[in-house]
Amino acid sequence: MRVTFTVNGDPVTAEDTWPGESLLYVLRERLGLPGSKNACEQGECGSCTVYLDGVTACSCMVAAGQCQGREVRTVEGLTGDQETGAERRLGTVQEAFAEAGAVQCGFCTPGLLVQADDLISRTVGAGQAAPDDPEIREALAGNLCRCTGYEKIIDAVRLAAQREQVLANATGGADSEPDKGGERE
Ligand code: FES
Ligand code: FES
Repeated sequence: MRVTFTVNGDPVTAEDTWPGESLLYVLRERLGLPGSKNACEQGECGSCTVYLDGVTACSCMVAAGQCQGREVRTVEGLTGDQETGAERRLGTVQEAFAEAGAVQCGFCTPGLLVQADDLISRTVGAGQAAPDDPEIREALAGNLCRCTGYEKIIDAVRLAAQREQVLANATGGADSEPDKGGERE
């Protein structure tokens, strides 16, 4: 089965996919995008989280055939300057995770980055207040970290949200782009 869809703004085609093949497998093994991690393959850990048509989803639970004609955005797509060909910069959430020391082995990090990016888009990016700690914890509840560094992860998301809030305030609020480093749906 041939599947054609968009990944991080680029049209892609996967040939000869088999009926049970997951989007995660296609991303990692066919398209050379290993950022989304393969941990449980059962929809339990969130390490494989991507955007599918702007909504976060566990890519291990999405069949490749379901992606025909749709838009996928992976953790690789959170970086900036992709369209200009300039050197890529880390997005706000990625920088915050690095600065806050929120990464240990890093296996859970890609999924957390996408989920945190989504939370900030839905709050600060929509002209609302930065999420408080309970909102952050709830948003990340489906993302498991085996290294259990959750406090630093919360710190990182709080930091990223605050920075996006400052950017939004400086550039006019809700209608402004929420992430200085990347594009948004
Ligand atoms: S690998 Fe997809 S949820 Fe764990
Ligand atoms: S940093 Fe190791 S699983 Fe989260």
